[in-house]
Amino acid sequence: MKLVTFTGDKARAGAFLPGDTEVIEVTGTDRYHPVAHANAVAAHAKSSGADVVVTGATGGVGCMAVQSLAARGYEVTALTGKPAETDFLRAIGAKAVLDRHELQMGTKPLEKASWSGAVDAVGGETLAWLTRTMQYRGCIASSGLAGGHELHTTVMPFILRGVKLLGIDSVMCPAETRLEVWRRLATDLRPTHLDRIANLIGLDDLPSAFTALLKGEAQGRYVVRLRG
Ligand SMILES: NC(=O)c1ccc[n+]([C@@H]2O[C@H](COP(=O)([O-])OP(=O)(O)OC[C@H]3O[C@@H](n4cnc5c(N)ncnc54)[C@H](OP(=O)(O)O)[C@@H]3O)[C@@H](O)[C@H]2O)c1
Repeated sequence: MKLVTFTGDKARAGAFLPGDTEVIEVTGTDRYHPVAHANAVAAHAKSSGADVVVTGATGGVGCMAVQSLAARGYEVTALTGKPAETDFLRAIGAKAVLDRHELQMGTKPLEKASWSGAVDAVGGETLAWLTRTMQYRGCIASSGLAGGHELHTTVMPFILRGVKLLGIDSVMCPAETRLEVWRRLATDLRPTHLDRIANLIGLDDLPSAFTALLKGEAQGRYVVRLRG
């Protein structure tokens, strides 16, 4: 859950922002973080056109990762607990949508190799399933724990398929890396579909927004308008 300040002041929103970047583009989507995921996958996964999967797909991290990877030509599968949001996920770029409640995760150390890349906001059993289902030399960008903080898997995906597990940390990330990501976010990686992803709300809406977030029912990212 993230409560950010929407002041209209670009300097406060991010000292690194290129001049023509709108505040809504920054605060509305927490976009540095999920796009860093997508960058990690793009740097290590096969070229565009490859099959990638995004977990927690309707969440703030997930839907930004879906649009970012789709915009770069990847075939994106969205894993979600909200099949009713299939049209939304397809509209922002998902080619396929999987219902996580229906997913057969299997238990073998290696399952069918399905994904060249993965962006995971969920952790727990979902991340363990990803390690078992990556293609040869596939890579997983991991940052979230919406579904659990533990990871139970084996070394088989790593030593037999060369799978890479990349940790994403948006808090201590070095300034030069942030600068480069912000620069690209304002140019070739400029996000799409922000009108669908960002939900502008007021302070009065916070209780219902928090309830939705805690229940895992929220979609996209909330932007809280603090002034008029
Ligand atoms: N490492 C970092 O620097 C960093 C930075 C920001 C956030 N995070 C972490 O990343 C995670 C996602 O953040 P967010 O802002 O995207 O949160 P969010 O907007 O609340 O979205 C999380 C999504 O995960 C899915 N989900 C919720 N509960 C689940 C469960 N029990 N099992 C499986 N899936 C579940 C839901 O999507 P579906 O219904 O579509 O499945 C939900 O919308 C959080 O754990 C957050 O703490 C890490």
